[in-house]
Amino acid sequence: MKLKSRHLLGLKGMDRNEIEFIFDTALNFREVLERPIKKVPTLQGKTIVNLFFESSTRTRISFELAERRLSADVVNFSVSGSSVAKGETLKDTARNIEAMKIDMVVIRHSSPGAAMFLSRVLKSSIINAGDGTHEHPTQALLDMFTIKEKFGKIDGLKVCIVGDILHSRVALSNIFGLKTMGANVAVCGPRTLIPRDLEKLGVKVYYDINQAIRNSDVLNVLRIQLERQDRVFFPSIREYHLYFGITKERIEKNNREIIIMHPGPINRDVEISADVADGSQSLILQQVLNGVAVRMAVLYLLGTQN
Ligand code: NCD
Repeated sequence: MKLKSRHLLGLKGMDRNEIEFIFDTALNFREVLERPIKKVPTLQGKTIVNLFFESSTRTRISFELAERRLSADVVNFSVSGSSVAKGETLKDTARNIEAMKIDMVVIRHSSPGAAMFLSRVLKSSIINAGDGTHEHPTQALLDMFTIKEKFGKIDGLKVCIVGDILHSRVALSNIFGLKTMGANVAVCGPRTLIPRDLEKLGVKVYYDINQAIRNSDVLNVLRIQLERQDRVFFPSIREYHLYFGITKERIEKNNREIIIMHPGPINRDVEISADVADGSQSLILQQVLNGVAVRMAVLYLLGTQN
């Protein structure tokens, strides 16, 4: 089997077989990560550039680890700050990449469509590591892989994404992927942070967190993306925590078992209280571990199949 595209720009349109194929491949890499020497020669001779126009800790380190564990040659390029004239710079950067004969590009950028743009102007395979508020496909793949590892399936599970849905690429990629994999997807948050036409995607919307908790097997809790908010969406952080924060008390009031996930970075005691983040039902660190395996799978499949 092969993935249909040479690029991973988003989960919209990726079919179930492809996602399963990435999971099966990631399972093999999970095994590599348990070995004393966590390295395979699979991408030897391939050059990958990590092009990060936006800040990142987890995703950048996770990609770099995945690339190095596949024995690729890695080049890092980070641009911080917002003074970059984005369209022009990206085009210029692209030309340079082309001249340097790079095989794959991992890009994070604040503009939706940046990864798609590169895929049109470059011969390299492009992996979207987050383009503005649009998609973050490897995050959703690792979230779903972690759910599957925990429950043995995704089909029929009730997954609720909580928080700032409006500004979240993690939410959008998870919605596309989870729907494709047969989950019952819901979102929960303040009315101002939920896009109006979300129900058209077949997603249930809760405005009451206790109701969301009662009706979910998994909560995927998101950070409030203050850096993307150009106006005031809720009165205060304290108030957000009061109405939507995932606290031990809320979780314990509910009799059914519930799994807590978060893509990171966490704002402790804002969207999630510290004891829940570190508690026994939290899969947060498992997500980080699985992130490396899932990214190895994506890099391997795109780097060797086309
Ligand atoms: C997310 C992102 O950057 O989209 N984080 C991540 O990749 N692990 C979510 C966030 O910034 O809150």
